[in-house]
Amino acid sequence: MHLREILFAILGVHITGIHSDSVLDEIWHEWMRLNGKTYPGRVSEIKHKQTWERNYLRVLEHNTEKDSLFRMELNFLADETFERTPMASAKLTKDTLRFQPESDLIVSFNDILLPDSWDWRTKKAVTHVENQGQLGDSQAFAAKECVESFNFIKTTDLLLASAAEMHDCCTATGFATETVFDCVHNIGGLCEDYYYPSTYGQCRNNSCTPLAKVSGGQRLPTGDEEAMKSAVYITPVLSLVDASQVSFQLYQEGIYSDPQCSNSTVNHALQVVGYGSLNGMDYWICRNSWGLYWGMNGYITIARNRRNMCGIASFSSYPV
Ligand SMILES: *[C@@H]1O[C@H](CO)[C@@H](O)[C@H](O)[C@H]1NC(C)=O
Ligand SMILES: *[C@@H]1O[C@H](CO)[C@@H](O)[C@H](O)[C@H]1NC(C)=O
Repeated sequence: MHLREILFAILGVHITGIHSDSVLDEIWHEWMRLNGKTYPGRVSEIKHKQTWERNYLRVLEHNTEKDSLFRMELNFLADETFERTPMASAKLTKDTLRFQPESDLIVSFNDILLPDSWDWRTKKAVTHVENQGQLGDSQAFAAKECVESFNFIKTTDLLLASAAEMHDCCTATGFATETVFDCVHNIGGLCEDYYYPSTYGQCRNNSCTPLAKVSGGQRLPTGDEEAMKSAVYITPVLSLVDASQVSFQLYQEGIYSDPQCSNSTVNHALQVVGYGSLNGMDYWICRNSWGLYWGMNGYITIARNRRNMCGIASFSSYPV
């Protein structure tokens, strides 16, 4: 199923060459087969193949760069231009918000000695990776995941909370940060996914019994990665990032950074579940909502303490 094998074969064996058309054609068809892709017609296929070829060259070029700390791959999004990927559907404009500095915000944490690395996955405090799919609302997923983890840390009950309810009641009107958790508080908490499986287009919080509860949300000071580290140690954090680069779309593994990434204009939400360092390079462990076949089984590690890479600490908040 994974394209990784093919890509390694391609990039490992023919590292210098760009393939002839017929070989490229073969790889294209194999890629289509592996990713279950079909197109409504010849024109549509040609269009997607052109995008795919451009991405093929980008991946090839990136993965032969010696000093890059991450790899890219021809994943299931490789035939999509950025505008057509899930994050950038009609919601992009609404989801993109300009950065309003909140640097005077002070959040004080007790003088706890923070461990050098932390990963809530090893505490079984996170549910499985989901695919935002048709809902296309990354914030609904990342925020409800933070509610799930918070609820687990408080009660030791790991519930699968409803992203549909989160969308209907709290995130459908656009991006918010800590206010999303205030909203969850106001509607009485979130129901389990099973009891609120799909959206209604309006908040129907009275149709089910809320089980995952929070008292509200706390915003973190803009760009303060030390404060965010303390917060992540308390509970996973909701973070908005600039995911608009192709390098993000086609991320495979390693510590992600991109000099083109903005730290002030964001368009995508992630759940930050931990942090660590590898060979002196610090990173954040983040859960995406593009399914298991994206990145490292649905996760990405993003450079930490590298001037707020991709805005990872620009709009972050957590439930309290
Ligand atoms: C649903 O939300 C409203 C506020 O919008 C709240 O007053 C009500 O208690 C909530 N219902 C439940 C079951 O929590
Ligand atoms: C954003 O990046 C610039 C340049 O790297 C840096 O000077 C600035 O402090 C960063 N802003 C925040 C909020 O982290």
